[in-house]
Amino acid sequence: MGIINTQLIGTGSCIPDLVLTNEMLEQMVDTSDEWIVQRTGVRERRIAKNTHTWELALGAARNALADAQIGADELDMILVSTCTPDYNTPNTASVLQNELGARQIGAIDVNNACTGFISATDIADSYIKAGKARTVLVVSAETLHRVVDYTDRSTCILFGDGAAAAVYRATDDRQIGIQSTFIAADGAGADDLYMQALPVEDPFAAERPVDPKARFLKMKGAAVVRFTARAVPLAIDTALQRAGIDAEAIDWVVPHQANLRILDVIARRYHLPKEKIYVNLDRYGNTSSASVPICLDEMRKNGLLHAGQTIVCTGFGGGLTYGAFVLKL
Ligand code: UT7
Repeated sequence: MGIINTQLIGTGSCIPDLVLTNEMLEQMVDTSDEWIVQRTGVRERRIAKNTHTWELALGAARNALADAQIGADELDMILVSTCTPDYNTPNTASVLQNELGARQIGAIDVNNACTGFISATDIADSYIKAGKARTVLVVSAETLHRVVDYTDRSTCILFGDGAAAAVYRATDDRQIGIQSTFIAADGAGADDLYMQALPVEDPFAAERPVDPKARFLKMKGAAVVRFTARAVPLAIDTALQRAGIDAEAIDWVVPHQANLRILDVIARRYHLPKEKIYVNLDRYGNTSSASVPICLDEMRKNGLLHAGQTIVCTGFGGGLTYGAFVLKL
């Protein structure tokens, strides 16, 4: 068997229409456009009102399949990353299998918070390189407004909704495709960023009260920034090392869109001009695992990605999780 590599053959996104601006947030909590822009870089984010996560995922998946010019029947596996699923079961990937009319293939959800797209890509790459799948759809979809507390000014300013997808296919051209991946978790920081799923309670108690705020996302922002400053360079270093690629060869870094400060860390560490680090958080805020593929899709559609380029995608967030991969286009 020859060398198999994992090529990106299509991307698509699904961005909700409703725009939540900083000015609108000024009416909801004690904050200001100036504070939000200075500390985060976010100017507006999108809200998928009355929309399921699977609906966003489906829109992104259809657009990615169209971009790749393949039918759903050609898929060998569907991976969905989300930390805001509609159901604990069925998983979102199974819903997509049916809605897309795909064959009865493996359909798995990956819950890896903001690192989800990196982790799902790592799994897709492993299946393809092992010869267990030829074509894999990875979809990252999030409706974070459902877990955001719009009375908490330290989190509600950051997050937005959106979805994007990537289609990966086996190629025997060793010059292109995923050159390396790296994923990791530091569970010691679990309390720094979490949202509760099922409550721990006495099932036989006369009453089983539910705290409506229990499911809301809680974050110690400064602790997460400190983690990010350590974890992202570690992830990028490891992915570059595994790929045998020097930082000078990087054409684009596509980071999870969490805060502008991480861009400075990356630019300084790798001696990269800021123009090589893609940013769209001003328009979408932090869309958790959807942020990296939304960037990739936007970059493809805007003609920023070309054959021969080397790009590094990196993610970090709840878990605390982090990771990166190197992709040759
Ligand atoms: O996606 C997963 C990864 N997530 C991240 O990477 C997010 C990482 N965290 C961050 O980006 C930042 O920590 C935030 C943007 C969330 C917060 O910025 P910060 O510079 O770390 O602010 P802080 O939490 O240290 O708070 C500074 C001050 C506080 O006031 P006092 O205690 O100094 O008087 C806050 O109460 O800013 C206050 N503050 C606000 N003021 C106006 C917090 N949120 C707001 C707000 N508007 N929205």
